Amino acid sequence: MLTKAPKGTMDILPENSYKWQYIEEEIRKICREFGVSEVRTPVFEHTELFQRGVGDTTDVVEKEMYTFNDKGDRSITLRPEGTAGAVRSFIEHGMFNNPQPTKLYYQISCYRYEKPQAGRYREFHQFGVEYFGTQSPSADAEMISLPWTLYKRLGLKKLTVNINSIGCPKCRKEYNEKLKAYLKPQYDQLCDTCKNRYERNPMRILDCKSSICKDIVKNAPLLIDSICQECSDHFEEVKKYLTVMDIPFQIDPYIVRGLDYYTKTVFEIVAQNENSNGTICGGGRYDGLVEELGGGSVPACGFALGMERLLLTMEEQGIEIPDSHKLDIYVGHIGENNSMFAQKLVADLRECGICAERDHLGRSVKAQMKYANKLGVKYSVILGDDEVASGKARLKNMYEGVETEIELSAQAIAGHIN
Ligand code: HAM
Repeated sequence: MLTKAPKGTMDILPENSYKWQYIEEEIRKICREFGVSEVRTPVFEHTELFQRGVGDTTDVVEKEMYTFNDKGDRSITLRPEGTAGAVRSFIEHGMFNNPQPTKLYYQISCYRYEKPQAGRYREFHQFGVEYFGTQSPSADAEMISLPWTLYKRLGLKKLTVNINSIGCPKCRKEYNEKLKAYLKPQYDQLCDTCKNRYERNPMRILDCKSSICKDIVKNAPLLIDSICQECSDHFEEVKKYLTVMDIPFQIDPYIVRGLDYYTKTVFEIVAQNENSNGTICGGGRYDGLVEELGGGSVPACGFALGMERLLLTMEEQGIEIPDSHKLDIYVGHIGENNSMFAQKLVADLRECGICAERDHLGRSVKAQMKYANKLGVKYSVILGDDEVASGKARLKNMYEGVETEIELSAQAIAGHIN
């Protein structure tokens, strides 16, 4: 127990952390290009934020939150997602007073008490973006184009963008009544969860995974056919913006999303994975959430993608991530008396921006070189009495087996390596 991480969590070890860093760097780069700035919010928030924000009829709030009372008897919850915290921060810091839109991104850990399986964890990581203060369908389209562009740059293939419109509270209210009327005769056959949803949030029945409920909703009226003119016009514009950016998409009228705050556009990006959950990204517009959480009437939209699912998909698709963390040079030394010189040279090399390592275990030269090979360093140099006395040494290119005599200074070595 003591030496085993809790179920549904995992350590990111050095043999994998460089992959995370590579993707995180690509994320920072793309956010700069899209003019999106980072926000960092706390890992935990007041429970009420998620109850009100994510919605208390959702699976996330009903079953999956890590909630506890702190020593001051406040109900606290580890964030199950990033949107509610970003909205809270937007309101708390009066970001609506800035020129709009406010464009925020986050790279965070999230916590959901779910049944762990490939691509589903209890601690997982999201990269998400939220745009506040714009109603424009061009913003909805950017919410899809940003992760799409990132995935393409990372080399992902076989992706599908599924979009839908779930309308606004006005048209959804009418639709819910229509749906309930359709479901009423079959109410007794619905699963227990959907019976519960029938009154509180009937639209979520469309998303049920149970085969009986799936069968029942097959001929149900679709929300996309019932949305009002304004929502329909908005959706048409989103489609045009996607088309102009050459982003292929499909309309999936059954996407309703698992969180309550959405209005109008919703979307998911799905990878055809064989061994893990393929929904690698999801998001949409949520025009009522800022107001629901105590801010003004500020329209917004956003998305979040799962980092673990992204990495699993890259692995399944055989996409290699370059390891840029290899050392440039190993500075070996012979005898204790040359250890100080090796340390000084390594320190000087690092000052020149060269990634350098030396022995810290009192190994023999042979063992030092064996270790250098294991590290995959490109260059090595060995400092014996002669080298230190003459100020000259042989720089070995370990990949090609070629040796070059060089002056024993960090600048000379750096000049040769770069
Ligand atoms: P979500 O669909 O719940 O949306 O999560 C977004 C992504 O997080 C999923 O597509 C998936 O890749 C990943 N994810 C979710 N749960 C898990 C899990 N248990 N294990 C591993 N990965 C997971 C949201 O969270 C919304 N806040 C997105 C959003 C932002 N909508 C508007 N703005």
